[in-house]
Amino acid sequence: MSLIKINNENGISEITIDRPEALNAMNQEVVAEFSSVLQAALSDKETGIIIITGAGDKAFIAGADIKAMQKMTAEEALIYGKAGQKLTMLIESSPKPVIAAVNGFALGGGCEIAMACHIRIASENASFGQPEVKLGLLPGWGGTQRLPKIIGVGRANELITTGKIINAEEALRIGLANVIYPQDELLSSARKMASTILRNGPRAIASSLHCIKEGLSVPIKEGMEIEAQEFSKLFHHDERLEGLTAFIEKRPADFRD
Ligand code: CAA
Repeated sequence: MSLIKINNENGISEITIDRPEALNAMNQEVVAEFSSVLQAALSDKETGIIIITGAGDKAFIAGADIKAMQKMTAEEALIYGKAGQKLTMLIESSPKPVIAAVNGFALGGGCEIAMACHIRIASENASFGQPEVKLGLLPGWGGTQRLPKIIGVGRANELITTGKIINAEEALRIGLANVIYPQDELLSSARKMASTILRNGPRAIASSLHCIKEGLSVPIKEGMEIEAQEFSKLFHHDERLEGLTAFIEKRPADFRD
């Protein structure tokens, strides 16, 4: 039985983790299936943007699978940890924007998946946290690396060492969520945002995401060089001609046809 639902429509690929009986916790099968579904969306020419969400109205993803981990050896945990990390890196380095529509619990690995996404929008009942230390574990799918970059070192230290769970309002206040919607408007709002993004140049979007990501781990001079090179590379493509000409001709640009 499939643990992931996919819906492709109007250039948007919606990926839903579909294991509501376990609050969409991600065992090895979910990680593997999620990775291959994501690879397919990345190589699909019709897909311009990806939305990730969880099935049901309670959870986005309640984390890595605690029951599976209880039986793991250190060697198996290394494989599981690396598979989860690889998935987050696939999301983070996607040239197509990935929006996390956080519709409930985003805990542990779930918060880590959300953090790898380019944009996080949340429902009013969403909650976020890295409660791994309560289980005698640490955030093992990139949480120790991404959380400080998103909310700052002090706040990341506090969230990770207390293991406390914060609500959507607090996540918004500290920059972990971009915006909050009522639960029944979350997906339509994600699709609306996706459609807005789809009207823009796909190469320009991919290059912008690349510069932002690379710039986070290099000195500013190097980041500026990456940006200058990417800016120049766009001039090899018709996309910028369409964008610039559309402006001059006072018409909307048509990038996707
Ligand atoms: N793994 C496996 N099963 C999980 C799960 C998880 N992470 N989270 C919830 N479930 C299961 C529960 O065991 C329960 O199943 P059963 O009915 O078979 O017992 C079902 O989902 C419903 O959960 P609850 O009855 O607990 O629901 P609740 O509303 O009372 O509580 C909750 C919700 C606060 C999210 C609670 O389920 C919870 O604390 N879950 C664990 C969250 C967590 O610690 N996540 C981090 C995991 S470690 C990790 O992710 C490591 C990493 O970085 C890679």
